[in-house]
Amino acid sequence: MTDIVFLHGKLTPRAAATVSIDDRGFLFGDAVYEVLRVLRGRFVEPERHLARLARSLREVALPPPPLDPLAVAVDLLHRNGLEQREAVIYLQVSRGAAQRQHAFPPGPVPPTVLMTATPFEPRRDLAERGVSAILQPDLRWSRCDIKSVNLLPNVLAAQHATEAGAFEAILLRDGVMTEATRSNVFAVVDRVLRTHPTGPLILPGVTREVVLELAVEAGLAPSEQAVTAAELARANEVFVTGTTSDVMPVVTIDGRAVGNGAPGPVANRLRGLLARRIEAEAVA
Ligand code: PDD
Repeated sequence: MTDIVFLHGKLTPRAAATVSIDDRGFLFGDAVYEVLRVLRGRFVEPERHLARLARSLREVALPPPPLDPLAVAVDLLHRNGLEQREAVIYLQVSRGAAQRQHAFPPGPVPPTVLMTATPFEPRRDLAERGVSAILQPDLRWSRCDIKSVNLLPNVLAAQHATEAGAFEAILLRDGVMTEATRSNVFAVVDRVLRTHPTGPLILPGVTREVVLELAVEAGLAPSEQAVTAAELARANEVFVTGTTSDVMPVVTIDGRAVGNGAPGPVANRLRGLLARRIEAEAVA
C-alpha cells in the first residue's frame, strides 16, 4: 500500500511519478535531500532536520521549495497507511529540468521536489549483537556538511562493506576517522567518548547532535576531537549514529574485535537513552 509519492506539487502513484531526463538532479547530482524518522505519526527531531535542509539549500543557492514539508509528510503517511507505524520520510529538492549546462539555468526553473514515505523497521536485533565495519578511504569532496545527493563515494564504500559482509564502512581522511557512508561515528578511546567535530568534512548528523547532548546529560563528558586510525585500533568501543541506525555498536573493524568484541557500556547506555527519547517524542 506504500505507493503514493509527492512529486511536482502533488500526490501521485509511484509508478506514474517520473522526472525529466533533463533534471539537474539526474544529470549533475544538483540536488539536496533529507531523511526524517516518523514514529506513529510523530516526527523525530523535525526542527533540526528542517533547519539542516534549509542550510543545505542555502549553501547550494537553491530557494526553499514553496511547501510545508511536514504537512506533505502527514498526507503521505495517511495515504500510505503509515500513521500508526514506523516510517522514514525522504525529501529531495533538485534545481529542476533545464537544457544541460553546468552553470545554473539562466531563467527561472521550478525545482523538482520529491517526497516519499516508506515503512521502516529499526534493526534492534543487530544493535543488540553489534555489527561489523570495514575501513575505507574518504574519497568525498570538502563540503560533506551539505546533504547533497552526490553520494557516489558513499555508494562505493557502502558496496565494499556489503561485499565484505559488513554493516558500514568507516571513512578515513588524512589518518583520521571522519564518519561512515550513512552515519556518524563515535569511539571510546582512553575512556573518553569522541567524535569528529562538525565542519566541512562531515555531515552534521541530527542523531550525532542528540547523542552528544544525551552523553553530556549522562555525565559522559564527550569530546568533539577527531579519532586517529591508531587510536581507533585501540578503541574500547565504537558505534555509529544515524536516523536509520540510531546508536549501532560496531564490534569488529576489518575483522578485528573492538574492545572485547561485544557492544560496550557507553554504546548500550546511549542506545537506551536515545530509544527512550524517540519514544517520548512519539507520545508527546
Ligand atoms: N544518512 N553521515 C552521513 C554521510 C549521512 O548520510 C547520514 C544520514 C548521517 C547521519 O545523519 P542523521 O543522524 O541526521 O541521520 C551521517 C541518511 C539517513 C541517508 O542518507 O539515508
